[in-house]
Amino acid sequence: MPEFKTSPGTRDILAPHSARWRAFQDVFASTVESAGYSYIIPPMFEDLDVFLRLGEATEVVTKEMYDFHDKGGRHVALRPEQTASVCRAFVEHRPTTPWKVWYAGPNFRYEKPQQGRYRQFDQVGIEALGADDPLLDAEVIALAAKFYADLGLRKVHLSINTLGDAGDREKYSQALSQYFMANEKDLTTESRATLARNPLRVLDSKREPDQKVIAGAPAIREFISDVSNQHFDAVLQALDALNISYEINNRLVRGLDYYRRTTFEFTSIALEAAHTAIGGGGRYDGLVEALGGPATPGIGFALGLDRTLLACDAEKVFDAPATAVQVFVVDTVDGMHAHAVCHELRSNGLSADRAYDLRSMKAQMKSADRSGATLALIIGSDEVENSTIMLRPMGSGDQYLIARKDLVAEVKKALNPK
Ligand code: HAM
Repeated sequence: MPEFKTSPGTRDILAPHSARWRAFQDVFASTVESAGYSYIIPPMFEDLDVFLRLGEATEVVTKEMYDFHDKGGRHVALRPEQTASVCRAFVEHRPTTPWKVWYAGPNFRYEKPQQGRYRQFDQVGIEALGADDPLLDAEVIALAAKFYADLGLRKVHLSINTLGDAGDREKYSQALSQYFMANEKDLTTESRATLARNPLRVLDSKREPDQKVIAGAPAIREFISDVSNQHFDAVLQALDALNISYEINNRLVRGLDYYRRTTFEFTSIALEAAHTAIGGGGRYDGLVEALGGPATPGIGFALGLDRTLLACDAEKVFDAPATAVQVFVVDTVDGMHAHAVCHELRSNGLSADRAYDLRSMKAQMKSADRSGATLALIIGSDEVENSTIMLRPMGSGDQYLIARKDLVAEVKKALNPK
């Protein structure tokens, strides 16, 4: 047993999975950059207060925050998500609107670890600030749907809801609170505790005994103002125009407290229930103000990288890309020849690896095999004497001598035979 292991809820991502993670971010970048989103890298920790603005009824804030006092006595926290940081950055830098940004990177929540739920987990996401247009809501949702399709996922389900504006949400919350309090005895102990903090979140309960009570709860649409209803209808029409299928789910409230009006969630129907939510987002008009900025509407989404890759596994799509080098150099003389040959190949845009510590020919050939390289270059004393190199296309059973001086041209020819 090693003395040290990763902390619960964290993992090392090794090859070949690490290459898959990078490719995932590349696909995301090209999807969203093609729609005018620019890359932002917010810090991984911020003043605790920034995250407290996510809402005091949010469990991510009350129960799951990694916060600590730094050596200067500041109370800081590792980011549990990036929307708050993006809004803080908006207030700090005052960019022109609409401000459309994308991000990728780890977040930290002290959750109970299980498959698809980690304490350090990666997200990719976008945020668009400064526009109220329902067509923007539809664009944001369409980009998420396009990204899933770009990965090759087919079994992704979109649920959508409106939570109305701040006033509507408050009225609904009060009505729910009254209803659940009247039916409290039929709720589970966990839901009773949730009710005290945030009645909306009781709707999220997946526990069987709660379902009957939840089914009879008032529906949000009765509380939504005409303006919010019109906005929602326009979002749905804009989704229809792009043939994006969705299900309206009046019970969808989501875990973060800042949502107003449009909210949505993507689930994978290829996954087990516990980690089906592979992404979600919505409008958070009011968050910029809560962080000290001017009234500014905002909308965005974030997708869990870990869970989306689990969905890819379940649908057998988006395999880890091959990362093998093109050439493996075997040198049985003194290692210096491999040293120079690798350098020359790399300087000419080719990828090359080699063995170290002057191991036997057999051991070096084994490493060449394991590397997955397309070609092996073999340098022994005969080759050095004659200024040649043996070129072996791996797995072909074939080999031939090339002149040392023609190294790069010969390797390129062997890699791309006409
Ligand atoms: P969220 O729903 O908390 O929203 O997280 C978005 C996605 O991150 C989830 O659907 C899930 O795939 C993934 N995720 C969350 N927690 C974990 C975890 N512990 N382990 C693995 N994956 C996880 C947000 O974070 C919002 N900031 C989204 C947003 C952006 N809303 C507007 N803009």
